This record gives sequence, structure tokens and C-alpha cells, in this order.
Amino acid sequence: MGDLRSKFIEVYSVLKAELLNDPAFEFNDTSRQWVERMLDYNVPGGKLNRGLSVVDSYKLLKEGKELTEEEIFLASALGWCIEWLQAYFLVLDDIMDGSHTRRGQPCWFRLPQIGMIAANDGIVLRNHICRILKNHFRGKPYYVDLLDLFNEVEFQTASGQMIDLITTIEGEKDLSKYSLPLHRRIVQFKTSYYSFYLPVACALLMAGENLENHIDVKNILDDYLDCFGAPEVIGKVGTDIEDFKCSWLVVKALECCNEEQKKLLYENYGKADPACVAKVKELYNALDLQGVFTQFESESYEKLIKSIEAHPSKAVQAVLKSFLGKIYKRQK
Ligand code: IPE
Ligand code: IPE
Ligand code: MN
Ligand code: MN
Repeated sequence: MGDLRSKFIEVYSVLKAELLNDPAFEFNDTSRQWVERMLDYNVPGGKLNRGLSVVDSYKLLKEGKELTEEEIFLASALGWCIEWLQAYFLVLDDIMDGSHTRRGQPCWFRLPQIGMIAANDGIVLRNHICRILKNHFRGKPYYVDLLDLFNEVEFQTASGQMIDLITTIEGEKDLSKYSLPLHRRIVQFKTSYYSFYLPVACALLMAGENLENHIDVKNILDDYLDCFGAPEVIGKVGTDIEDFKCSWLVVKALECCNEEQKKLLYENYGKADPACVAKVKELYNALDLQGVFTQFESESYEKLIKSIEAHPSKAVQAVLKSFLGKIYKRQK
């Protein structure tokens, strides 16, 4: 698999070079340098779980048959389309959430001279996906299904982002509106479809499968969320507390706390003041939410393995297990 990883990384430069010389636009040095810097800053710096999963899943679906260079390239290109989608959502998400850092460095829009140009950069990133798909998949029998898949998943993610954002309006009025089912609905749409279903669905399409025959795969992947550490649980410095987000931690805290702790939460949640944020974090620690999550995560893992093993196809089982291994007990 190490070899597939390095080939995957190489494909990034090929795709980038094509985009920087796209004949549909008249690039000059300034615009070309802008796009190159924007891509290098926002696209390749993550863990690449989603992108690499397309290649790994495709290989597993081929059940040990050696992949051709062409197949490796195409599966990698599809993987990069998901990483481009991720970059597009993250650039815009950081603006909307008012975040400061992403992947250990300042958010793109926080850099000098970038600011709200980042909003258009997000749109450019989104358009790059269509350019890549057109350049490499237009002649494939599954091209229409691929476009449709990306469109569906993007719509679901954008809708998830919308409910994530508008839920805070209600929460600010009354924190008791926040619940586990509401949190679940938000993350299902904003995270699950593009993070778990999309990579596997891309590999299935490339392998000639009809996605309508794989509703069970979609249902199993839905529950991968339960093994996907919530940002603050895994130690990410987020802005969920300041932003009044309906996060797993706050709904769990509301569920486990006593009256006094509930009062503290009501008084300090959703405030930009670092002292308020610190009080909320202290409460999370006092309730040992980290421990509660770890317990929940390992129970969820056992359940998922059972439902995977009930799937009729060994190849699909291998795909699902390999993917689960990538996210279970993730540390960042
Ligand atoms: C971040 O996802 C956004 C969420 C879905 C919570 P990852 O933690 O997988 O992001 P990168 O791409 O590896 O940075
Ligand atoms: C990130 O969502 C963007 C998408 C899931 C589309 P969040 O706002 O929940 O995640 P972080 O904490 O910024 O990574
Ligand atoms: Mn965010
Ligand atoms: Mn967000």
C-alpha cells in the first residue's frame, strides 16, 4: 500500500499542472501563481484519508488483481476530487465558523491579503472538481453517475452546514433545544456523506457497480460517525464552544450534568470570552467526556464490525473494514 500512497501523492502535481494551464481561462503569471499557492496551501495538507480510501477500496474491489497504471491514476484522481471537495468546504467553513487555525497553520482567509478573496477561492476549488472529472472521465460509461454522485453529496453537505449554522440561532435562545438526535442529524449531513460514503461510492462506480444495488453499504457507512472522534474529544482546537455549536460534547454534557453544572453551561456556552470557554472545558473534563466517548467509540466499533461481517460480499467487507481502520481511534 505504501507504493499506492506515493503514486497518489504524485497525481496531485499532474492535476495541478492541468488546472494551471486550463485552456478555458487565459492565465497569466499572477493568476497562475495565485491559484498554485492557494492549492498548495489548502488541498494536500490533511491526512488524505478520504482520497486514499478511493484507491485502497478500488484495489480491494479488484480482489487482488494487479492494478494497471491507468487504473491507479484514475482512482487517485477521484480521490483527489474528494480532497478538493474537502478543501472547498474547509476554506468556507473556517470563514463561517470564525476559526483561527486549520491543520496546524492559520486558516487561509486569515493570511494577509487573502481575507474575503478566500470566498471566491472556495468557489474555484469547487469548480476544479468538475474540471478534473471532465478532463479524465468524460468518456467513461460511469461519467454521468459520477457527476450525479458529487452533486448529491455536495448538496447534502451544504445542507448539513446550513443546519449546523442555523441551529445556533435557536440554541442561543434556549440551550435545552440541543439533543443527541439533533446533533446526529447535523453531522450525518455535514460530515458523513462526503467523508465516508463518497470515497467508497467512487470506487464502486469505477469498478462498474450500480450504486442503487449498494444501499446497505451506504447504511453501514452512515454509522462510521460513531467511531469518528469529535473535534474537541481528539484534542483539536476548535471554535464550537464560542460558536454555540450543537456539538457531541455539549449535548453529552447536558445529559450527564447536575443542576449546578447546567447553570454553569447556560451561563458560559457560546461566549467569545476565553474565561467562559475555559469554564466549559473544565466542566467537560470534570464530566470525563473523553472517557465517555472512548467507551462509546469502542462499543460502536464492535457493532460496526458485526454489521460489516453480515454483508454478503467478502470484497465489500474488506473495503468497509479497511476504511473503518483508518478512522477508528484517530488522534487528529
Ligand atoms: C475535518 O476532517 C472536517 C470534519 C469532517 C470534522 P479531517 O480531520 O478528516 O480533515 P483533514 O483533511 O485530515 O485535515
Ligand atoms: C467542517 O466542519 C466542514 C465540513 C464538515 C463540511 P466543522 O466545522 O464541524 O469541523 P472543523 O472543526 O472546522 O474541522
Ligand atoms: Mn469549522
Ligand atoms: Mn463548521
